Amino acid sequence: MKKHIVVIAGDGIGQEVTAVGKQVLDAIAKKYNHEFTYDTALIGHAAIEATGSPLPDETITKSKASDAILFGAVGHPKYDNDPSAKVRPEQGLLGIRKALGLYANLRPIKLFDELLSASSIKPEILKGADILFFRELTGDVYFGERGRTDDGNTAYDTMIYSRYEVERIAIKAFDAAMTRRKKLCSVDKANVLESSRLWRGVVQEIATRYPEVEVEHQFVDAAAMLLIKDPKRFDVVVTGNLFGDILTDEASQIAGSMGMLASASIGDTTGLYEPIHGSAHDITGKGVANPLASVLSVALMLDISFGMKAEADTVVNAIDAVLKAGFRTRDIADVNTPADKLLGTEQMGYQLLQQLIA
Ligand code: IPM
Ligand code: MG
Repeated sequence: MKKHIVVIAGDGIGQEVTAVGKQVLDAIAKKYNHEFTYDTALIGHAAIEATGSPLPDETITKSKASDAILFGAVGHPKYDNDPSAKVRPEQGLLGIRKALGLYANLRPIKLFDELLSASSIKPEILKGADILFFRELTGDVYFGERGRTDDGNTAYDTMIYSRYEVERIAIKAFDAAMTRRKKLCSVDKANVLESSRLWRGVVQEIATRYPEVEVEHQFVDAAAMLLIKDPKRFDVVVTGNLFGDILTDEASQIAGSMGMLASASIGDTTGLYEPIHGSAHDITGKGVANPLASVLSVALMLDISFGMKAEADTVVNAIDAVLKAGFRTRDIADVNTPADKLLGTEQMGYQLLQQLIA
């Protein structure tokens, strides 16, 4: 098959980890006789520096014309402590999600057995946990009306959802639940928020179309607690943009590290695949970032956008083999990791390629 992929590496470790993701795509193309062609595009701080905009038009045009997007990360510390900055790297990511209509963000949380000890949660609580988050991605307080009063002393961001936005993500989540353990947990804050009451009502309506799926509704505070207390009770979780952002960072600890979590952002057009981690400027350029989240994003791309299930499994199996061989980047290493198994980003990529060409 021929596929055209736009690589948007972005900022910080985004560059380092997508380089490995791309090598893995190349190895898969070779192994399975596919032809993958690539283009690159700018976003975030890198794009602001080059063009003045965090999301140049060209990036959108190239993305729309591609079969899939491999995304790195956006962000730069210089904006984090400057609340007055009007142009910010994150606007690039939010903008591309909106421009491409990528309303469903799938974040699978699955622990590789070898990493049981890398998590700060007890192994017996963790073992067997397997959760698929559906985070709504183009609505909520992220995109609602916001502003400040004239005196600058009051600010607001509006949490807003419309029925169709809840319906379409709920349907995707229920469909996924049907292919899994047929359990769905919808997370909201319906005891306080009107937008959450709409959310809950719509999810309840959609649930009637899926009588086989066991549905529960949790308030976000309780869900945050239950994720750590008993992660195995969850199968599919569907939630809004903000709650999903927060809960999936928390849930990354179930997978051992943020460096292990991939995501697929899908809608009605080109899908975008990215690690859930950020640009991590504290380790940028040191060559120590874990590339596995980017590689797992590649696996999601192969599976979801290209329908290449066997290829996707090959990638996941290669990760499994590398972990079984004891190789670790420093975020997933522990006291038992010998020095010669502690790898940097490129070395981890090298080990993966050895598996893929084997
Ligand atoms: C994520 C990130 C983004 C978000 C930031 C970088 C805008 O945290 O993808 O989870 O909040 O959605
Ligand atoms: Mg986040």
